[in-house]
Amino acid sequence: MDRIRVGFIGTGRISDLHAIEYRQNPNAEIVALCDANPSLAEARAQAWGLDNVTITDTYADLLAFESVDLVDILLPHHLHADAALAAFAAGKAVSLQKPMTLTLEDADRLIDAARAAKVPFRVFENFIFYPPIVKAKQLVDEGAIGAPITIRLKSNSGSRKTAWTVPDAARAWRQGPGKAGGGPSVFDDGHHKFAIAWHFMGQAEKVHAWIGETEMPDGSFRDSPAMISFRFPGNRYGNFEVVHSPDLTVLTEQYAQDDRVEITGTEGVVMVNRGHGQLADVAPVALLRDGQLTEFRDLETGWVTSFVHCARHYIDALRTGAPARLSGEEARDVLRFALAAEESARVGQAVDV
Ligand SMILES: NC(=O)c1ccc[n+]([C@@H]2O[C@H](COP(=O)([O-])OP(=O)(O)OC[C@H]3O[C@@H](n4cnc5c(N)ncnc54)[C@H](O)[C@@H]3O)[C@@H](O)[C@H]2O)c1
Repeated sequence: MDRIRVGFIGTGRISDLHAIEYRQNPNAEIVALCDANPSLAEARAQAWGLDNVTITDTYADLLAFESVDLVDILLPHHLHADAALAAFAAGKAVSLQKPMTLTLEDADRLIDAARAAKVPFRVFENFIFYPPIVKAKQLVDEGAIGAPITIRLKSNSGSRKTAWTVPDAARAWRQGPGKAGGGPSVFDDGHHKFAIAWHFMGQAEKVHAWIGETEMPDGSFRDSPAMISFRFPGNRYGNFEVVHSPDLTVLTEQYAQDDRVEITGTEGVVMVNRGHGQLADVAPVALLRDGQLTEFRDLETGWVTSFVHCARHYIDALRTGAPARLSGEEARDVLRFALAAEESARVGQAVDV
């Protein structure tokens, strides 16, 4: 593929961040948009300055366009499997937003179908492309903290005063497991935190979760506070905490949330101090070792950068034929991790991943 022609299936809230790299990268071009609500797709086309874009309200129509090489699937979770299978059958390369599916059985169907159709397939997991996470991984891989022993992850949501508007419809399908597969904090957003844990430590073998519930001012529910702990092979452990602080100022232009990660090794500690948003002017990455604090401030930050790099990675992979992340198998591992946390909370005991 030379210049990759992209079609979006779903032009909801998150599509704005997907469009950024496709619009600025000379090796890609958005040629078609599909949304069940075509006036939303029209509005996106206008906002993104796309003059020659075809708009449909049915993804079968978009998949029939020869002019589309790659489809970016940005649908509610319960629609991921069918849309991806249809795209493979149409011979398109696919980038599918996380989580790949609601069940491991469907995940297997996707992996098999992509392989049988011989089409490129990856699951979009932007957090492992977020420059502070990339820097932290580089430090860990270089041995800056010795051998990693534990990882702590924290999702901290707060005041929405400067956050973007999330349409009611985008909140509605996330309420209840039927369409979303699990709660908005632990399963949906949690996918990113399980992916980070997996990225640094490998696959966990056992998970225990307490998942609470909080009613939000708009009447929706969050699966928060939550406390999830996991054990990795080799006497290594981790945890993931979710907490909503209603009056905590989060500096953000997207979701009112920030994330923190801390990895402790035999010789030091590496910390990622800002994720989604920002709580204050802290160094995005810091290293503690040998009695010294080293701050890494000269890094690209802002949640948008994770989308830009994640999209660029796939454009480059499609052009060079290199493997892209997350592969179907990698995404299945992360899904298995997230599903195990949901199951543990349900059954009230630790479960195998
Ligand atoms: N990576 C991240 O950080 C991140 C952040 C937010 C959302 N997401 C993911 O992006 C995906 C979409 O989330 P969102 O927040 O944009 O949701 P959304 O509800 O805002 O957008 C979904 C869009 O799909 C459209 N749609 C529904 N059924 C359709 C169909 N059959 N055919 C065509 N269009 C249809 C809806 O009209 C809507 O515009 C989800 O997988 C979500 O987990 C990822």
